[in-house]
Amino acid sequence: MAGWGGFFVSLLNYKTEKYVIAENKKIGILFRLYQLAVLGYIIGWVFVVRKGYQEREEAIQTSVITKLKGVTLTNSSETGLHLWSAEDYVIPPNGEQVFFVVTNYIETPNQRLGFCAESFKVPNGRCQSDDDCVVGETVIAGHGIKTGLCLNSTGTCQIRAWCPVEHSQRPTEPLLSAAENFTIYIKNFIRFPKFEFSKSNVLETSDDSYLKRCSYDRENHLYCPIFRLGDLVSWTGYDFQGMAAKGGSVGIVIEWNCDLDKDSTQCNPQYSFTRLDLKLNKSVTSGYNFRYARYYKDQNDVTFRTLYKVYGIRFDIMVNGQVQQFKIFLREVAYVHDSGNRLAVNACYCFAGWEIQYCTHNNCHWFGCCPAWCSK
Ligand SMILES: *[C@@H]1O[C@H](CO)[C@@H](O)[C@H](O)[C@H]1NC(C)=O
Ligand SMILES: *[C@@H]1O[C@H](CO)[C@@H](O)[C@H](O)[C@H]1NC(C)=O
Ligand SMILES: *[C@@H]1O[C@H](CO)[C@@H](O)[C@H](O)[C@H]1NC(C)=O
Ligand SMILES: *[C@@H]1O[C@H](CO)[C@@H](O)[C@H](O)[C@H]1NC(C)=O
Repeated sequence: MAGWGGFFVSLLNYKTEKYVIAENKKIGILFRLYQLAVLGYIIGWVFVVRKGYQEREEAIQTSVITKLKGVTLTNSSETGLHLWSAEDYVIPPNGEQVFFVVTNYIETPNQRLGFCAESFKVPNGRCQSDDDCVVGETVIAGHGIKTGLCLNSTGTCQIRAWCPVEHSQRPTEPLLSAAENFTIYIKNFIRFPKFEFSKSNVLETSDDSYLKRCSYDRENHLYCPIFRLGDLVSWTGYDFQGMAAKGGSVGIVIEWNCDLDKDSTQCNPQYSFTRLDLKLNKSVTSGYNFRYARYYKDQNDVTFRTLYKVYGIRFDIMVNGQVQQFKIFLREVAYVHDSGNRLAVNACYCFAGWEIQYCTHNNCHWFGCCPAWCSK
């Protein structure tokens, strides 16, 4: 019961704070030094260096749509003339942020399912006798399944596959060398949700012929995102025809760094271009290629196909950015702790607009609005 009694008595107590004024110059100077250090930190580091009065956002939301234009005619000794338009040389053709442009190819037409000799280029397909070609075994890294025969004429196993297998060499000069003059239109839309700021890299104009005749120019046509492929590659420091023969990879970076305190006309895209693959001439890893096939049916309803091994340039479009704008409350809070000292200052400075607020333990001496967290 004594516990309850003490509790009720304590309810009737009046509690207040007791301030101690220490008329001690050393402590006084120390206290002012603390304040100066905090102020120096805020003005020097937070304001001047980190620009802490600005709020940043790096969570950019973006969409990229691409479109290529240009047509060329190739003339190969095996299959004759072939007209290439964007539907044929852009893979995939649906205007993606990452896409591949065919600049060179090996075509193996009229392949049918059947039996033929494995290519001599495949080590596992070579043989001395039939014993090297076990029936039903797959040729490792090859084109088909062994039938058990070793063919004298080629020195390789007979296989069940799409025949004949690919045997041509890569043309040393790119077949689609004219791709240098193809153009790419890159439409980029960005948004920063926190500031509800959005912009596009295409000029907002009612002149619908503008995009048909303009081409990108850093000074005069910054908002005309139409680039010649040859220029894109040359800006990475490489030669287009050299890259076109074996293939390669190019990165296009669109950077949006904006200070929203300034006019929105000051917020402009910056483009940069880099080569992303290994550029060693002799290295077997250099270049970029892959294969695909187109399937057809003959009069007798039998499927046959044309195999393409395509070499080309892969473009990756990357969008980065951040915006900053004047912020109402400063998040950085400076604390000064010295709990051993009776004059301990637990200070917190925060900013509402340009007004400075200064809090100690329990009291806020303030010249502006006081956010709740400041008194914690
Ligand atoms: C295509 O090449 C062949 C020889 O390989 C040549 O006879 C023919 O004239 C060429 N056609 C064109 C349109 O260049
Ligand atoms: C392949 O060559 C070997 C010896 O050189 C011979 O015995 C064999 O009959 C040949 N096979 C064919 C299919 O010509
Ligand atoms: C690209 O166009 C220019 C000017 O029209 C022309 O001189 C050049 O030969 C073309 N390049 C290729 C690879 O066709
Ligand atoms: C790559 O080869 C081309 C010609 O084939 C040559 O001009 C260039 O200097 C070579 N580059 C390097 C890095 O070896």
